[in-house]
Amino acid sequence: MDKPKVVLGVSGGIAAYKACELLRRLTESGHDVRVVPTASALHFVGAATWSALSGNPVSTEVWDDVHEVPHVRIGQHADLVVVAPATADTLAKAAHGLADDLLTNTLLTARCPVVFAPAMHTEMWEHPATQENVATLRRRGAVVIEPAVGRLTGVDTGKGRLPEPAEIFEVCRRVLARGVAEPDLKGRHVVVSAGGTREPLDPVRFLGNRSSGKQGYALARTAAARGARVTLIAANTGLPDPAGVDVLQVGTAVQLREAVLKAAADADAVVMAAAVADFRPATYAAGKIKKKDDQEPEPIVLVRNPDILAEISTDRARPGQVIVGFAAETDDVLANGRKKLARKGCDLLVVNEVGERKTFGSEENEAVVLGADGSETPVPHGPKEALAEIVWDLVTRRLG
Ligand code: CTP
Repeated sequence: MDKPKVVLGVSGGIAAYKACELLRRLTESGHDVRVVPTASALHFVGAATWSALSGNPVSTEVWDDVHEVPHVRIGQHADLVVVAPATADTLAKAAHGLADDLLTNTLLTARCPVVFAPAMHTEMWEHPATQENVATLRRRGAVVIEPAVGRLTGVDTGKGRLPEPAEIFEVCRRVLARGVAEPDLKGRHVVVSAGGTREPLDPVRFLGNRSSGKQGYALARTAAARGARVTLIAANTGLPDPAGVDVLQVGTAVQLREAVLKAAADADAVVMAAAVADFRPATYAAGKIKKKDDQEPEPIVLVRNPDILAEISTDRARPGQVIVGFAAETDDVLANGRKKLARKGCDLLVVNEVGERKTFGSEENEAVVLGADGSETPVPHGPKEALAEIVWDLVTRRLG
């Protein structure tokens, strides 16, 4: 089978160097990548780098190899065009159909899905001109990833950072596999919690759990791809922020509760994928707890943490809000799941069997989604993203 053909457009921003990693990920996963930089991009990363990493010729202008009509052919033959970084200037040209170099010509001739990963200073991103250009491109079906928030070129920080190459790669992989999906969560705000809470005993120790956060991140990523505004509340995950998602970091169950309640106030759906500690140490020692050679250790006294899922299910922030819980069970998985669904009062409960080697930290999952209406949706063993898609299918059906 032919390798999928990807055009990687690179425009002139400092983040151009990060596109090298995206290029590597694309080539290593079996894509034939043609890099089309703009002339300004070559100020940041030279043509030799793009050519060596892609194994393909590189040009910026339509005047090279004219007999091959590159300005038409490259776009026509592509399965995906991804522009990363996309500067304000490139977005403007694409929105207005200007075609003064090879990349902009390619954007006009491409009939395949197009992904833009913008990167620029916050002021440029927020400018109404850029915002209108982005809206135009999205209306025409392009995927424009929201920039990340963080350190920009200089000392300043804000919205406008290029999302991590791994995240842009995930978006490309999904768009190549499924095309530009119907944005059935467009206009919706969804909240996802992920990871595992840590309950501190002293400044260096905590009670925690083995949740990696990968399932929650897959939920956030897929919801963003389906058009939702996503708030991801991440507890101790250490994973890169998914592209186009608002990420709030928390540590403990009490902090998680506060963040979830606040974000849920205007949310259409809340998915509690985080593993929340049911108990926390009753006291926190301000200094490190020392061992005493001649004494047995003190027992750790625990107190209950609030049950966030039960609380938001009983006391819904909005009528019609859909609430999804997760349950990790080791035995009697379905019977325990049904009881938990009733006890928590949520609409859907994703039940998975856990064990030493199952689920935690892995890329895959297998589950049954139980509905408060008595429904049972088995999800076969597969990527956490596939489970995430099924959860959003069930949520959208309930949102009506
Ligand atoms: N959860 C929560 N707040 C807690 C504990 C759990 O919101 N204090 C949520 C989790 O995010 C998950 C669901 O509840 O969505 C199930 O968590 P689990 O710990 O399995 O449920 P428990 O009621 O604690 O049941 P068990 O007795 O099995 O621990």
